[in-house]
Amino acid sequence: MDNKNYYITTPIYYPSGNPHMGHAYSSIVADVFARFKRLDGYNVFFLTGTDEHGLKIQKAAEENNQKPKDFCDNISRIFKDLSKSLNLSNDDFIRTTEKRHHKAVQFLWDKLASKGYIYLSMYKGWYSVSDEAYYNEDEIVEKDGKKISVISGSVVEWVEEESFFFKLSSFQEKLLEFYNKNPEFILPISRKNEVISFVKRGLKDLSVSRKSFSWGIKVPNNKKHVIYVWLDALTNYLSALNYPNLEDQLFKNFWPATLHIIGKDILRFHTIYWPAFLLAADIKLPNRVYGHGWILSDKEKMSKSKGNILDPVEMIKIYGLDQLRYYLIKEVSFGNDGNISNENIENCINSDLANNYGNFCQRSFSFAEKNCKGIVPSDIDFNSQDLKILNSFSNNIKKIRSLIDNQQLNNYVKFIIDKSSQANKYFNDEAPWNKKDNKKRLNTIVYVSLEIIRKISILLLPVIPYSANKALTSLNLNTKTLKLDSITDHLIIKPGSKLNNQGILFNKIGKNDS
Ligand code: MSP
Repeated sequence: MDNKNYYITTPIYYPSGNPHMGHAYSSIVADVFARFKRLDGYNVFFLTGTDEHGLKIQKAAEENNQKPKDFCDNISRIFKDLSKSLNLSNDDFIRTTEKRHHKAVQFLWDKLASKGYIYLSMYKGWYSVSDEAYYNEDEIVEKDGKKISVISGSVVEWVEEESFFFKLSSFQEKLLEFYNKNPEFILPISRKNEVISFVKRGLKDLSVSRKSFSWGIKVPNNKKHVIYVWLDALTNYLSALNYPNLEDQLFKNFWPATLHIIGKDILRFHTIYWPAFLLAADIKLPNRVYGHGWILSDKEKMSKSKGNILDPVEMIKIYGLDQLRYYLIKEVSFGNDGNISNENIENCINSDLANNYGNFCQRSFSFAEKNCKGIVPSDIDFNSQDLKILNSFSNNIKKIRSLIDNQQLNNYVKFIIDKSSQANKYFNDEAPWNKKDNKKRLNTIVYVSLEIIRKISILLLPVIPYSANKALTSLNLNTKTLKLDSITDHLIIKPGSKLNNQGILFNKIGKNDS
């Protein structure tokens, strides 16, 4: 692949309340891809941010007796702080209340209007404030005396107001053709089928402005209307690249986006509305939209009313950040819903991190300290067993890259942890403690073990950046300059150099510790 630019985005979050584990999950997933691609020599742009307009936010601000902008400033700051607590490597954090974004949205609106895709009419139909979404009559049911959307379960209200419409219906065939030509535009495949059948049932024109409230970006030349929050929000992916300046280097390098990471509940917006807006404005379409599943708490979607919100900051305090990141990536089947439980997380930390990877690092470093004076051995000679395990990384580099390019996150981690189990087995089988009479063999086993730590830690850098960095620092390696390619080499750690053991990577979690 020649294009070494990689643009990845998270959804921009509604600052209507504090962030929860679902938000943290979208962000951590995107961070893993961004970090992997940087490690593989790509020029990466990783974007996250907050989606601050619309009735949902206006109402939340009113409930808190605050002006919408003050309210957003406050919660957007909490989301920004969370990015730091999650150790996200984002290159930008966009807020839709920023000038650069307003400019882009109004430009895009004018473009759609000038091409004849926008007209004024009346909207009569259902609207959910909590989803900021319009629903068709056949998507509404009555439950406990309330009208709710069968798609999201949210309460809907009847709206009748003057509204500008976008000619979404003109794009039905074009979209179907696009999905057909780009079979991996929507992943996972099950979600793609869902979208295609929705589009095939027929697309109606979309209401893209609201008149009954004011918290939003004004429609150019008609100040009574604010632009529909999803047209506003989706444009963030362009405004962060300085659209409408098409000559801007960021835009030139990074558009079209490589990968939009989103939750499955916002698929329709990203795979129908967004490509239709872009097609209408003659802007290239993103390469891929991946809709992940939900993080469930007590087997249910988190919500304030159910009182089952999982707070990522609390979880980090209890388990540690890398432990949480590892667990979410390893144990939630990417693309499907995943339930979080304390028991699962403890088992996962103990079995994979403390007893497996952490243990291998620890026993190798201690053995080297005791038997090689903490110096990386130089008198070494690889035998076929050594080469077998060392080569099992080089032989799989293509597979590793393809796992990431196909968003096979669980298999990526499984590959690494399997290597770590093999490394422990190698250490047991080779039993260096029995080789004290054969110093060269003992040295070689130590050297091979250190090289395996290096390779595994490089692969783990995107998932558990602090801990993998710690292990690599113990080997005196600078993670800023390390590249993925170096896992194909076996003689990177400098013989004769002093090890710089940073200590235990992961403590085992006992039943009484949590
Ligand atoms: N503001 C819109 C996105 C606009 S993108 C142009 C939005 N915001 S949100 O804050 O409600 O949700 C943001 C993301 O968090 C969505 O991808 C959503 O799927 C995800 N999650 C919200 N709850 C979730 C879980 N319980 N589990 C996993 N992700 C979930 O939608």
